[in-house]
Parts: sequence; C-alpha cells; structure tokens
Amino acid sequence: MLEKNLSAVRIIHMSAQNSQVLAIIGQGYVGLPLAMAAVDAGWTVIGIDNFEAKVSQLNSGSSPVEDISDQQLQDAIAKGAYKASTDFSKVSQASVITICVPTPLDEKREPDIELLRSAANGIAPYLSNGTLVVSESTSYPGTLRDVIIPIVNELRPLESQILYFASAPERVNPGDPVWNQKNTPRLVGAIDEASKTKAMEFYESICDVAVSVSTPEIAEAAKLLENTFRLVNIALINEFTQLCSNNNIKVHEVIDAASSKPYGFMPFRPGVGVGGHCIPVDPLYLTWWAKQSGVQANFVESADSVNRQMPKFVAERALNMVKKRGDSPRILILGVAYKPGVADIRETPATELRNYLISAGATVTWHDPLVPTWKDSTSASLDWDCDVAILATMQPGMNLTQLTDRGVMILDCTNTLGNLDGVTTL
Ligand SMILES: NC(=O)c1ccc[n+]([C@@H]2O[C@H](COP(=O)([O-])OP(=O)(O)OC[C@H]3O[C@@H](n4cnc5c(N)ncnc54)[C@H](O)[C@@H]3O)[C@@H](O)[C@H]2O)c1
Repeated sequence: MLEKNLSAVRIIHMSAQNSQVLAIIGQGYVGLPLAMAAVDAGWTVIGIDNFEAKVSQLNSGSSPVEDISDQQLQDAIAKGAYKASTDFSKVSQASVITICVPTPLDEKREPDIELLRSAANGIAPYLSNGTLVVSESTSYPGTLRDVIIPIVNELRPLESQILYFASAPERVNPGDPVWNQKNTPRLVGAIDEASKTKAMEFYESICDVAVSVSTPEIAEAAKLLENTFRLVNIALINEFTQLCSNNNIKVHEVIDAASSKPYGFMPFRPGVGVGGHCIPVDPLYLTWWAKQSGVQANFVESADSVNRQMPKFVAERALNMVKKRGDSPRILILGVAYKPGVADIRETPATELRNYLISAGATVTWHDPLVPTWKDSTSASLDWDCDVAILATMQPGMNLTQLTDRGVMILDCTNTLGNLDGVTTL
C-alpha cells in the first residue's frame, strides 16, 4: 500500500469503482485468456488495448487468440461480463488492474519496456482509491518497484491516496491442452502486507493455487529463471544433437535412453531453434540485468548463441539431402509458427532458417495452415514442387502424406513423423 503526497496538478475524477470489475491492459496471448478466466470466476472485465482494430475484432466476438474460442468470447460479451476498449479512463471502474503488454527486445537485443511504461502512463491518471495494480508482463527484477510504481505515483489522481501493487508474472503456455490460467499455480510478490492480501485474494479467485513470495523482485526473478532454464536445456540438447549427427547417432534414441533414468534427468528435444515472445527473449532480460551490476551471465549467453546457430545447422542438413545442391534447390518449410497449435510467428527460428537457405541459393517457400501471411507471402500449397521439405513445426491439420506419397524427402525437426520412407529425423 502506498500513501501519497498530495500535489496540486493532478487530474481529479469521481470514482465509479466496482469491487468485481477487473481491467486488463493488453488483450493478447496473456490478457485475453486471463480475461476469460476472470469472467468464469465471476468478474466483469474491461479489456483495454491500444490497437483499435483488435478492440473492434474482440467486440465483434472474434477471438484473435487460438486458446479462446469465438463462442467463449461471444458468451462473455452477451452476458455483459466482457467488453474491450481503447479508452484508458475506463480503468477507474476497476478494483484490480493487471498489465499484460509485450516486453520485447530492442535492436541491440536489450529489454525494451516502453510499452510497459506507456501502459503505466495510460492507467495512472484514472486510478481509483484502493485499486490493486498488478504487473503480469515478464521483465527484470525491480521493474514494478523502480519503473511502474514511480510512473503511477507521478500521475495518479489526488483522491487515490491508497494503492496496492504486486507482480504476478504470467506463465500461460499458448496451445497447451492441459495447463491454463486456472490450473497453473501463480506466483504473487507484493510490495507490502496489504498489497499481498489484496493480490492473493484476487488470484485465489481465478487460479486454483496462488503462491505468495516475499517481494515483487522474487516473482520477477523466478519468471526469468523458469524461462532461462528452458533456454539452456534446449541449447544443451541442440548442441548435443549436432555432436550426435556428426557421429551418425540418433539423438532421439539417446534422449529416450537417458529418460529411462527415474531421477535427475529431464528430456528436452532438439528443434530449429527457439521462438516466441518468451524463451528467446526473457533470458536476455536476465543477461542485461546481470550487466547492470557488472556481472556477465556467460552460461546464458552461450546458450543463446547455440540456439541461434541451430537454423544454420538445420539448413545445412536439408541442403545435404538435396542431390542437385548448387542448382538452386527448391525447399518447402513446413510450419513457420514458433510452436504447434498457434499462429504466432514472433521470433520464429523459421526466419533464420529461410535466410540461410536463400543465402545458399535455394528457392524457398512455406506452408502453415494457421499462419495467414509471413514474409509478404501466403501459405503455399503442399502440391508445390520441391526437392526437400523441412518440418519445422508440426501444425495440427497438416497432412504430409501429400508429400511422402509423391516421394518428397522430409527433414523432420519435430520427431513426429517416425520412420516413414523419405523422412530423416534431425
Ligand atoms: N505469449 C506467451 O506465451 C506469454 C507467456 C507468459 C508471459 N508472457 C508475457 O506476457 C506479456 C504479454 O505478452 P503477450 O504474448 O500477451 O503479448 P501480445 O502481443 O499477444 O499482446 C499484447 C497486447 O497488448 C497491446 N498493447 C501493447 N502496448 C499497449 C499499451 N501501452 N496499452 C494497451 N495495450 C497495449 C497490444 O496491442 C497487444 O494486443 C509479455 O511480457 C510476455 O513476455 C507471454
């Protein structure tokens, strides 16, 4: 809880706050599923997004996120429990506000928290007294305390004497049929006891389990640890795959063999690289944060570098499969989203794969039933005449017998096709 020093020049507004109204800033892969989970738990949700076209789409009942069906969204709208808006002043109606905006990297591959700052700037003038403000966006430790709270304190209305703050980094895994907003335990780190009580009450109303940690910095750091753990383990297995490949050893059989050990081993699988808004990005928030205190996170930087070299390794493997290499081989990339079941192409390693193939003289096109456009083109038909296909992401509904039946060789980077004729597994 923060009590504020009154200063004269702030907006004064009459609060129409309602204890069961939640405002969510950002209606993407995190914000929209949270909105629907909150509606299910009895909250009325205002979904704020600064992208007008998305707000119109949402209010027309069309979901931009695969895990939320149009029907679910339409039901929430029909019962008056959900409405999207670009108008930040509507947050004055909310007792809880969660910030779920992107936290990408800038051109130097360092944290870019401008959208987070702009979300804090957007809500601050309209906060009602007693509001709980939670940051769910992934960022480095100290973001809530040192960035968001100062912005809010600078701009909040005179009458909003008491505000509560917590960090509860989102763990949603888009496309996951098992783990969702409700059954994934939620970390909650608040700035004081009163904020902790409010934040735990809120998350316990939505999630099966909320786990309280002592500070927002613990919650923020835990999120970076979780995703860095995945990055380094994927890097290890990607490097191991290259070692096995050079010695004609089937890496998946090795991983299966090691997995027979009942303790102390966890299987990770190789792939074209890492993609999405989390695994390639969050560990670089950690490396940047380390540098701020004069420390180099060598291990994490090395893992990042191994994963970034993986598309080149995959491209070389595919080119080696094509007999008429040098003759501009025709290569089809199957699945360009960064993982199965989503249309999300952010940071997809398919981009680097395509770049390497083109720079090696190949003619490249792509097929992905979930991605409407990529690289200024649309998904090609599986009939496209190619020398080799690279299965980068196994999308649901992708019927590859069209390729195998006509003898097209496939480099399977997903370990889903098994020992079919013409299929080589990474
Ligand atoms: N996508 C995931 O799988 C995932 C999982 C866990 C955590 N996260 C974290 O959650 C956060 C959000 O990620 P996402 O995947 O939902 O992003 P997203 O791009 O899918 O959605 C973000 C939405 O926020 C809107 N937006 C951007 N700036 C805004 C602003 N200033 N005000 C209002 N709206 C704004 C965008 O228009 C967009 O609709 C990030 O920090 C991310 O690292 C993402």
